[in-house]
Amino acid sequence: MSNGEQLNLFRQPNSQPSTPAEINTELIPTNVKIPIPQGSYDNMELLTQHCQSCQRCELGATRLNAVVGRGNIKAPIVVIGEGPGQNEDETGLPFVGKAGQLLEKILAAVKLDSEKDVYICNIVKCRPPGNRVPTTEEIAACKPYLLEQIRLVNPKIILLTGATAVKGLIGDRRGITKIRGTWIEWEGRLCMPIFHPAYLLRNPSRERGKPKWLMWQDIQVVRAKLDELTV
Ligand code: URA
Repeated sequence: MSNGEQLNLFRQPNSQPSTPAEINTELIPTNVKIPIPQGSYDNMELLTQHCQSCQRCELGATRLNAVVGRGNIKAPIVVIGEGPGQNEDETGLPFVGKAGQLLEKILAAVKLDSEKDVYICNIVKCRPPGNRVPTTEEIAACKPYLLEQIRLVNPKIILLTGATAVKGLIGDRRGITKIRGTWIEWEGRLCMPIFHPAYLLRNPSRERGKPKWLMWQDIQVVRAKLDELTV
């Protein structure tokens, strides 16, 4: 009798499979009912392939490209956005439009290199039509991929850009204005909610107390924490 058959003997009739060995990982992209247990992926390549063919939610029907991530897959900082926009859908890369250019500037202002110091990804991998906010179902369908990405990168710090990223990853429904700039511990990792760069594009004032000024404060706190953690 094989090990798998022996395990099945001990499983309760309706219980979920508990180890990656027990599920057929090839089925992951086909149906949201297939679980994605922690440890399903041992590299970003297979996860990327699965995202590119994924039909776990309706966004799979309208995307041009799944947008998985860019940057250093061993970076100390993971930046999480909401979801791809048009530029990202067309290129397959996150944060490459106007908001992305501003994100690059913000990171560069504290000498964070987007190729070396950060890995950038999103709550959902596929563009919501018309850039609407992803639904709870879409977020839930995609979340196990994100959890695997975080596990593989193993960052010291996670930056959550905007309320959808905060709600989508850690389930905190407080407004971003209330919680930005504060450290939140999630699953043993340090998370910092920050404004979404697109919000800063709509609020360009640099005056003290305005969103751009607050972002400058927050990113300096992040830089200081990274320095503290890497001595
Ligand atoms: N906004 C996001 O939240 N993510 C992107 O990748 C681009 C814009």
